[in-house]
Amino acid sequence: MSQSVNLTHQAVEILRKNDMGGYTVPTLGLYPFQWNWDAGITALGWLSIDENRAWVELEKLFEGQWENGMVPHVIFHQESDDYFPGPEQWGVNRALPTTSISQPPLLATVMKILYEEGKDRQLAQNKLELLFPKLLAYHRWWYKERDLHSTGLVSSFHPWESGMDNSAAWDEALARVPQTEQAYERRDLNHVDSDQRPLKEQYDRYIYLVNFFKENAFDYELIFNHCPYHTQDISLNAILQRGTIDLVALNQKLSQPYDLPDLEVEIERTRQAIASLWHEEKGLFLNRDQHSGQAIDFATTAGMLPLYGRSVSAEQASKMAIVIAEWLEAGKYGLASVHPASEKFDAKRYWRGPSWLHINWMIADGLHFYGHDELAERLRIRSREIIETAGYWEYFDPITGEGCGGPDFSWTAAIALYWFL
Ligand code: GLC
Repeated sequence: MSQSVNLTHQAVEILRKNDMGGYTVPTLGLYPFQWNWDAGITALGWLSIDENRAWVELEKLFEGQWENGMVPHVIFHQESDDYFPGPEQWGVNRALPTTSISQPPLLATVMKILYEEGKDRQLAQNKLELLFPKLLAYHRWWYKERDLHSTGLVSSFHPWESGMDNSAAWDEALARVPQTEQAYERRDLNHVDSDQRPLKEQYDRYIYLVNFFKENAFDYELIFNHCPYHTQDISLNAILQRGTIDLVALNQKLSQPYDLPDLEVEIERTRQAIASLWHEEKGLFLNRDQHSGQAIDFATTAGMLPLYGRSVSAEQASKMAIVIAEWLEAGKYGLASVHPASEKFDAKRYWRGPSWLHINWMIADGLHFYGHDELAERLRIRSREIIETAGYWEYFDPITGEGCGGPDFSWTAAIALYWFL
């Protein structure tokens, strides 16, 4: 078997193995439920195997949607002792339990890809008509409940909402959160080495926030005004912006398109607001801490995602391409989430150094859009080399290429299938 055929075969096997009948777990053991942005990426992998199955991944996720439009970050489709905090801790009283926060909204962009690249046109049209109203409600939820003052940037109230859970960018904002006094037992350390996972003092704060949402009965105004952790996440906002642009385009494919002037306004407002987070010397965008009102002076790969969000000027894109090219040389196995020269760089601890295949894909997509094709292609080739070296891990040491975190990981297999296999 050629290497390429073999890699494809392995990736397909991983998705099949992690398929729980309609939804795909990120990896067996460590993450035994359906995660929001994982589901989006994983649907792209299913696209080349079984188009209907790709759409079903999204349908299953929307089963967990709240009446206010929010699509939660985890849907607890089944019970499991492998994970903490589970449904009881989140305290969301629904027939299908979920968490009470969301995750970066990749879904509209994924749906646009499924719609445009699907070969079964009738299936694509039917699924789009079915899911579009839910998707629209989700995007409107972000603007309504997470941007109370119409600033153009939505807020996040938990590091897990960024998807970049343990990012060093959140250290100061998280330090302001009290540590819970509740006794609890972590389950992640049963699956992965502790030097690749968050510290106890961080986990205590994650749990404090989970309890805070519950104690405030998930009231979005109370949480917005009083949550001890309150950030504007540049990557989440860039992903939302791209999603809304794609949602507006998808609307035109419906048999009866909606009027969406509110979303046109949001797109323009966000474009300007993202510009306010540009850092000229770093050649990247930053996150903002809403307690200080200041940008968080720490660069990560999150700050490259406005390229994917179609929200940078041509000059900014050129400057970013120079920064990204250098960053990619500093750690050859994908883009290190934190630059290897940074004192906070930690090659194996998640979101504090390792590289992630789906982040590489989004950045390459953005580079391509702004005409930096050669660099986008280099990122694609490097990403492929990671898989050839290590296989389908959750994330990778960017210096050695070693696989870390959970093995046989769905989004890594899926993005490989979609992007370069
Ligand atoms: C980790 C990641 C998060 C991901 C989840 C499931 O919590 O930080 O981004 O969605 O695992 O893969």
